[in-house]
Amino acid sequence: SADQQLIRESWQKVSASPLEQGLVLFGRLFDLDPGLLPLFQYNCKRFSTPQECLSSPEFLEHIRKVMLVIDAAVTHLEDLHCLEEYLTNLGKKHQAVGVKVESFSTVGDSLLYMLEKCHGPAFNLNVREAWTKLYSTVVKTMSGGWEV
Ligand code: HEM
Repeated sequence: SADQQLIRESWQKVSASPLEQGLVLFGRLFDLDPGLLPLFQYNCKRFSTPQECLSSPEFLEHIRKVMLVIDAAVTHLEDLHCLEEYLTNLGKKHQAVGVKVESFSTVGDSLLYMLEKCHGPAFNLNVREAWTKLYSTVVKTMSGGWEV
């Protein structure tokens, strides 16, 4: 569909430098919600500043993991259901590390921010809406993993 075309085209540029773009996304996320910083702990060690987190090798691995999940969603736009089990389980893992479902909407805002930074005015309303739909499908599936 037209939406799928817009998503594929816009993802191409992002996926050429996933780490760099992921740093924009998570830099924005910590600006919007600094309270998410303590959720990232490696070897029980908390980061004292976003800068420290954004430069740690373990966190950079998390960025790579996030970008791979988005990449998988873009690859499977036509058959997202094949990611269902994986995403539900991924949601479960995030609940276990203390993430709240609501925080994924801040991640969504940060994703759109990164895409806009990357594309400038080419990131128009149509592209934005296509991404909003895809992201909300991914989050809806992940939130299926939350147990209340
Ligand atoms: C794992 C936190 C958003 C994908 C983790 C881990 C933490 C974490 C603490 C375990 C340590 C690690 O693997 O680095 C968060 C927080 C988020 C967030 C606080 C935002 C509020 C996301 C998003 C995605 C994602 C949006 C992808 C759409 C992953 C993956 C793993 C992971 C693939 C590895 C899971 C595994 O080990 O099987 N996350 N995450 N995360 N996260 Fe996130």
